[in-house]
Amino acid sequence: MNNQNVLLNAAKEAAAKAYAPYSHFKVGCALITSTGNVFSGCNVENVSYPVGTCAEAGAIAAMVNGGEMKISELLVYAESEELISPCGACRQRIMEFADDDTRIYLANLQGVQKSVTAAELLPYCFKEF
Ligand code: THU
Repeated sequence: MNNQNVLLNAAKEAAAKAYAPYSHFKVGCALITSTGNVFSGCNVENVSYPVGTCAEAGAIAAMVNGGEMKISELLVYAESEELISPCGACRQRIMEFADDDTRIYLANLQGVQKSVTAAELLPYCFKEF
């Protein structure tokens, strides 16, 4: 199985576990690190809406908790006909652990629809100070 399919399956599994009683919009994110390990996360909403967290944040937290810090490829999946892409905050979260050319796959119920780089998602990113 290629990385894209591995990530799609992991993201789908994560999305199935999403806690999204307010938006009813289930999202899963899976990433593969430079050492080949896969980490995933789902969105976790809250009755106080802004407190909810995106699937990307969960996957990145799992990666850091797993002792890794380099994203090679990342996939975000919505259990939806809509194609989503990471919100602004998550673009910055991804960039913290990615290179400009790290592959980001965008997927929906029909599978992967788009492949972009991290820098295409977040051009002119805030990096070092
Ligand atoms: N959401 C994500 O988890 N990732 C994205 O890339 C976009 C949006 C979540 C946040 C919220 O729980 C729901 O999708 C609707 O916005």
